[in-house]
Amino acid sequence: MQMINAVTPLEEARAILANSYDLRFTKSVQRATAKIYDQVKDQVPEVEWPFFAPLISQINTLKREKDAVILAHNYQTPQIYHGVADIVGDSLQLAIEAGRVKQSVIVQCGVHFMAETSKLLNPDKTVLIPDSRAGCSLASSITPEDVLAMRAQYPGAPVVTYVNTSAAVKAVSDVCCTSSNALDIVEAVKGDTVIMIPDQYLAQNTAKKTKKKIVTWAGACEVHETFTAADIAELRLSYPGAKIIAHPECPPEVIDVVDFSGSTAGMINWVKTKKPPKVVMVTECSMSDNVASESPGVSFLRGCNICPHMKRINLENILWSLHTTTEEVTIDAKIAAPARAAVQAMIDMSSKGD
Ligand code: 13P
Ligand code: SF4
Repeated sequence: MQMINAVTPLEEARAILANSYDLRFTKSVQRATAKIYDQVKDQVPEVEWPFFAPLISQINTLKREKDAVILAHNYQTPQIYHGVADIVGDSLQLAIEAGRVKQSVIVQCGVHFMAETSKLLNPDKTVLIPDSRAGCSLASSITPEDVLAMRAQYPGAPVVTYVNTSAAVKAVSDVCCTSSNALDIVEAVKGDTVIMIPDQYLAQNTAKKTKKKIVTWAGACEVHETFTAADIAELRLSYPGAKIIAHPECPPEVIDVVDFSGSTAGMINWVKTKKPPKVVMVTECSMSDNVASESPGVSFLRGCNICPHMKRINLENILWSLHTTTEEVTIDAKIAAPARAAVQAMIDMSSKGD
């Protein structure tokens, strides 16, 4: 009988990490991570901390040794967001910061299009993503050929492309946008008809606030498209008096009936400023977890979905990424130049409004 080698790549990677680093929950690791645990103790069960703390401690040591900076999106888990991230934010904030960092390595804790954006804005840096399979249903909904076909159908109309797209799609666009600046960008581009891709809901929500004609694409975020107005009505019945806030990737029927809608950073700012006694964040589940420790007195009630792509990133693969300097994000130079121009045009237009 032939023996089958049952060691999976994950087990192999774990064995290499265990041989390379001391990942025991020692007293000194416990002391070094005590402040971080204090921030996440309501989200991370005490029994799990002995597993997370040594990884956090080792990642923080290794990132200094390797001259690396960790950029994390607001949807990353609390142990990443509070434990190892140097910079956190929404897509726009991360893009702006990616262009400014001085370290030679950027580890992007988020999805692939975010790592590509960092590479576009800081091309001399080594940009790593701990799991390159971290995709996005919006980014995979549209190709450059689809964009060119839309251009042919609406000659002269500017193409405003959500950052949640591949670099190749950005390369055939005029300017990018994020959920925090979509309306400003649509108003700033020339023409009465604007092609706004690929999120039909962000486009429809923006169309309600402008006189311009918005032509869109049938893409959607798999996390936000499932929320309905009926869900919001049910939340209001279950949690009387709670404020309900939602991300603009939700369908218009949801946005029409919530108390506030904004980008992930916009939602965090809203909670920190308004300090509602009770709030439901209709978005990815880690958002409330991350902001809870910074908002004493606010009770966060559940009405969220998990993004499986964001959750591909974890402490183990961040350590692996730093240890092996993988997986490096590269972009073909022919695509990078026009894609960079579209992202840079967005940043320039956004900073004019500051
Ligand atoms: P933000 O730009 O609001 O952070 O959104 C990014 C994203 O992927 C939301 O699903
Ligand atoms: Fe993409 Fe939605 Fe996940 Fe954001 S939450 S990365 S838009 S699938």
